Amino acid sequence: MIILGVLVIWAIPSRSADPEVLRPRVPAHQIKAAKAVTNPLPAAPETVEKGKAVYHGKGFCVTCHGPDGTGLGNIPGLVGKLPRNFTDKAWQKARTDGELMWILRNGSPGTAMAPFVPLVLTEEEAWQVLLYVRAFGHD
Ligand code: HEC
Repeated sequence: MIILGVLVIWAIPSRSADPEVLRPRVPAHQIKAAKAVTNPLPAAPETVEKGKAVYHGKGFCVTCHGPDGTGLGNIPGLVGKLPRNFTDKAWQKARTDGELMWILRNGSPGTAMAPFVPLVLTEEEAWQVLLYVRAFGHD
C-alpha cells in the first residue's frame, strides 16, 4: 500500500495542466493591460543565472516551487491552490510574461502566492527570476 502511494505521487507531476491551473489569475478588467507588458531583459544565460540566484536566494521561490520547479505537481482536488508547477508546458503557453509580472506585483489573491515587488524584489530582479521560471518550461 505504501509502495502504491509512492508510485501514484511520482506519477502525478507528468499529468498535463488542469483547466483550473490555466484559468487566468489576473482580474478581467486588468488582463489586457497586464498582457501588454513585456520582459525588458534579454534571455541571455547570465541573466537567467541571476534569476536562478533570486529564486534560491532573496526571493525564496524554491521553498514552495521546489528546486526543479515542479512545486508539488498537479494533485487532483488541490490543483490551482498549490505552488505552480513551472514545468507544465500548457501552463507556460497559457501565460504571458506580463501576467506573471502582475502576479509578482499583486500576488495571487486567496492563495499562498504573495506579492514580492517592490518589498522583497526590485523590478529588475523580478524580470530576472521570471526568465528563470520560463527556463523550467524549456526541454
Ligand atoms: C509561500 C509559498 C510560495 C512562495 C515562497 C512563492 N510562491 Fe509562487 N505560487 C505559490 C502558490 C500557492 C501559487 C498558486 C497560486 C494560484 O494558483 O493562483 C503560486 C503561483 C505562482 C505563479 C503562477 C501564477 C499564474 O499566473 O498561474 C508564478 C509565476 C509564481 N508563483 C512565481 C513565484 C516566484 C517567482 C517566487 C519567488 C520570487 C514565488 N512564486 C514564491 C506559492 C509560493
